[in-house]
Amino acid sequence: MDKKEIKQRIEKLRELINYHRYLYHVLDRQEISEAALDSLKKELFELEQKFPEFITLDSPTQRVGSQPLKKFGKVRHPSPMLSLNDAFSEKDIKDWLERISKLLVPEEVKKLDFYCELKIDGLAIELIYENGILKIGSTRGDGIIGENVTQNLKTIEAIPLRLKEVRPPLSSGGRTSKQFVVRGEVFIKKKDFEKVNKEQEKFNLPIYANPRNLAAGSIRQLDPKITASRRLDFFAYELIGRGPTLIATHEGNHKVLKELGFKTNPYNKYCKNLSEVFEFHKEIQRIREKIPYEIDGVVVIVNSNKIFEKLGKIGKAPRGAVAFKFPGKQATTVVEEIKVQVGRTGALTPVAILKPVQVAGVTISRATLHNEDEISRLGVKIGDTVIVGRAGDVIPDIIKVLPRLRTGKERDFKMPINCPICGNKVIKPESEVLSRCSNSDCFAQKKEYFKHFISKGAFNIVGLGPKIIDRLLSEGLIFDPADLFELKEGDILPLERFAEKSARNLIKAIQSGKEISLARFIYALGIRNIGEQTAIDLAEYFGVLENIQKTTPEELQKIQDIGPVAARSISGWFYHKRNQKFLEKLKEVGVIIKNVGVIHKLSLRGKIFVLTGALATITREGAKEKIRQLGGQVSESVSKSTDFIVVGSEPGLKYEKAKKLGIKIISEKEFLKMINKIY
Ligand code: IVH
Repeated sequence: MDKKEIKQRIEKLRELINYHRYLYHVLDRQEISEAALDSLKKELFELEQKFPEFITLDSPTQRVGSQPLKKFGKVRHPSPMLSLNDAFSEKDIKDWLERISKLLVPEEVKKLDFYCELKIDGLAIELIYENGILKIGSTRGDGIIGENVTQNLKTIEAIPLRLKEVRPPLSSGGRTSKQFVVRGEVFIKKKDFEKVNKEQEKFNLPIYANPRNLAAGSIRQLDPKITASRRLDFFAYELIGRGPTLIATHEGNHKVLKELGFKTNPYNKYCKNLSEVFEFHKEIQRIREKIPYEIDGVVVIVNSNKIFEKLGKIGKAPRGAVAFKFPGKQATTVVEEIKVQVGRTGALTPVAILKPVQVAGVTISRATLHNEDEISRLGVKIGDTVIVGRAGDVIPDIIKVLPRLRTGKERDFKMPINCPICGNKVIKPESEVLSRCSNSDCFAQKKEYFKHFISKGAFNIVGLGPKIIDRLLSEGLIFDPADLFELKEGDILPLERFAEKSARNLIKAIQSGKEISLARFIYALGIRNIGEQTAIDLAEYFGVLENIQKTTPEELQKIQDIGPVAARSISGWFYHKRNQKFLEKLKEVGVIIKNVGVIHKLSLRGKIFVLTGALATITREGAKEKIRQLGGQVSESVSKSTDFIVVGSEPGLKYEKAKKLGIKIISEKEFLKMINKIY
C-alpha cells in the first residue's frame, strides 16, 4: 500500500469501527462479533502507530465509550472513566513494559510488580457514595458524562447500598470529602443469560447476542423491575482517587473494596513479575469455559498506586494498565487471491488465500470457499476485507465480507475455463454445483509432482508423507510446492487426526528444509530427463541458478551426459513463464539455495577420471568431488574413453587394464598438482 492508500484505509477503518461501536455502545446491537471489531481496531491502531500523521480526533483509538442516551439523566464523572489498551500476545505485554519502564527511574523499574484481574465481559459503571450511602450510579457514557441509572443499579444485590465502616476514613476521589467513588463491572452469569434469552424467545422478543449486551440492555431499562428480573451481578475493581499514600498497592485497593462490602473477583492475583503474569493468563485461559461468567482476557495493572499515578494516561487509557486479551475466535483479514484447487475426483474448489492472521491463537492463511454458490452468497471479491473464524472451532471459515472497506480495486472471482493444473477443459454438469476438470488423471499427476519435490534427493522434508500431501491438496491448502513453505499451524490443524504438536512439528520440518543445495534444488524441480546426477552436473558446471536460467541448449551439451534431448528439456523448462513464476515464488517464500560458490574454471571439463588404489593425502570422495567441481567426471571402470587414471598405493585390476589400453596414468602427486594448479 502506498501512503495514499494507507490514509484511505485508515479513514475507512475509522468509519467502520465508529459505526459498529455506535451500534454496540449506544444501541446495544451487534452486527459483527467483538473479536472481529477488536481485529479491526488492532489494524487501525497499528497503522496509526506507523503513520501518526493520519490520527484524527474522531479516531476510535482516541475515545472511550459512546454518547449517553437521551432518556436518562446525565452524570458528570468526578474523573474521566478511561478504557484500556489491548495486548494480544506476550510480546505485546513485554513491549508495554518496555514503554512504561522508559518513564520510570531504575529503582522503580526494579520494584515493578503487578496485579492481575479477570477482564469481565460486562458493562463498566461508577458508584458514588455519600456518607457511606449509595447516591449515584452511572454508566460510562462517553467517559466524561454517563447516564444516571441509579434506580436500576440499586436492584443489583452485589452492589452495597450502604458501605461497611472501615478505617482509613471513608473518602475517595469524590467532589467532597464525604464522597467515595467505586467503579466496577456489571455482568450476567452465562446460565442466567441463557435463561433470559429463552424467555425472550418464548415471548417473541429479540435475542441478546452475548452476556455483555444483555447486561447493558438491562441496565438501560426505563423500568427498574425489568432490571431486577435479570439477576445482574457486580464486581468492583477500582477505587478512585485514593491518595497514593493512603493505600500503597492496587492489591490493597481490592482488600479495602472487599472490606467495604463489595464483591471482588476471587481469581484476581498478585504477580511479582511478567512470567507470573503469563502463567496466570495461560491458566485462566485454560479454565475460561468453566468460569460461570464471560471473560475476554486479563487486566494487568502496575501494583504500586504511586507508580500507576506517575505513569499517567495516554489518550483514552492509563499507561499503567493493559488488557491482555485472549485470542479472538474471529479476526479480520484480506482475501489476497482466490485460487482453484483440483480435488481427488477432479472437482474444482475455490480457496481464499488470506493475509495470514491469528484466529483463536493460531495463524491461518487460507479458507475454503466451497463452490461458486458460496462465493455469491458471501459476495466476496478478491481484495475484500473479511471476517474469518474457525467453524466448529477448527476449520478456517469466511464468515462475512466488510464491503464498507472496499476501495474499488476489488475483483470478482471467475471459475477458469481450463484446469489450472493440467490445462484441460473445465466442465460443469448442469445438475451439479461443482465444476470439474475433464482430465481424470489431473490430481494424481499433481500429487506425484509433490512427492518428487519433497523426496530424499530433493527437499527431503521428513514427516510429510503422501497421505498428508493428499489431504493438503484436497483441502486446497497447497497448489504448488512453494505453498508448502507458507503453511501455518492453523492451516493444517483442522485436517483429520492432526494434533497441535504434530502440526507444529510438520511446520518445523518444512521450514528447516528451506535451505537447499543447488543440485538438490534443480533435481526437485522435476524437469523431465533430469535425474540426480545430471542435477549435480548442472550445479557444478553453472554454480548458481541464474546461470542455468540464462544458458542455451548448446552450452548445456558441453556437459558430459547431457545430450540434445535433456538440453532441450532443461532450456524449455526454464523458458516457460509459469516455471519462472514458480522460481520467483520459491524465492519469495524464503527458499535459500546454497550455491556451489566459486564458479570454477572447469579446467577438467569433459575429462573422465578413474581412481584406483589408496590415496594418501585426499579421501577418495574428496578427490571425486574436486574432479566434478572442475567439470570433470569420475567413472568406476576403465574404458577407451577414460582420460586419466589416478593411481594410489596397491592399485587394483583397473590399473592393469588402463596400461593395456594406453590410458594416461598419473600419480597422486601429479593429480594434486593438476587440481591445485587449477585453483
Ligand atoms: S480496570 C482505566 N478491571 O474493561 C480502566 N477493567 O477496556 C480501568 N473491565 O472499561 C479498568 N473487567 O469495563 C478493569 N477487572 C477489570 C475489568 C475491567 C472488565 C472492563 C471495563 C473497562 C474495560 C477496559
